[in-house]
Amino acid sequence: MEDAKEIVTVNVEDAKAVVTNTLQFDDKLIKIRDYAKINNVPIIKDDGMVFLKMLIDIKKPINILEIGTAIGYSSIMMAKDSNCNIYTIERDEKMYNEALKNINECKLNDRINVIFKDALEAFDDVKNIKFDLIFIDAAKAQYTKFFEIYTKLLNKDGMVVCDNMLFHGLVNDTNYENMSRSLRGLVRKLKNFHEYLLNNESYNSTIYDIGDGMAVSILK
Ligand SMILES: C[S@@+](CC[C@H](N)C(=O)[O-])C[C@H]1O[C@@H](n2cnc3c(N)ncnc32)[C@H](O)[C@@H]1O
Repeated sequence: MEDAKEIVTVNVEDAKAVVTNTLQFDDKLIKIRDYAKINNVPIIKDDGMVFLKMLIDIKKPINILEIGTAIGYSSIMMAKDSNCNIYTIERDEKMYNEALKNINECKLNDRINVIFKDALEAFDDVKNIKFDLIFIDAAKAQYTKFFEIYTKLLNKDGMVVCDNMLFHGLVNDTNYENMSRSLRGLVRKLKNFHEYLLNNESYNSTIYDIGDGMAVSILK
């Protein structure tokens, strides 16, 4: 990585705590973030990224599985300043190609493996690997399926992190009349996933109001 050219300080707040940390962006990362903004590619929010990097610093995972690569931003951020290997799954060809380009430019292609497939069909590609951390950040309607498929590969002290759990505040919004039918369906599926997580007796799960809502599930 080149020297940092821009440093953004982010406060991660909840009712009781403020965690202040920094994310460091070199020229390449600034370009990737700009591309995401210009092309409306949804990437993890800064406070969500600070939180995820904090979990990685504590947990020091060897293998990470990410579902939803987009243009490789979160993979690159997780891989830099750590030694982990990342396996990340993306089904959109344009995103996949952009991710490969970005990962190569950041010289992280030896540690970030991008799998071009629908995650519902990619189990065989990773089935021989044990993961210390699984990061789910793809189609929200499929979170329960992703969780059920891929947690089979979680190490016994592993952790699952799910982004977009509050979905721009819509999950706690009771004003259903203002939502389109498809949006209502999506919100209902995310709520079902909340229930699924919180009632899953094999995991201790907490949903944090950080980023777009991040759930952390730890195998009991
Ligand atoms: C929110 S973006 C991921 C952002 C990325 N994790 C980051 O923060 O830089 C979600 C991505 O998941 C991909 N995706 C959605 N459903 C998927 C599926 N079933 N299998 C593979 N990729 C999927 C989308 O094409 C999109 O690029």
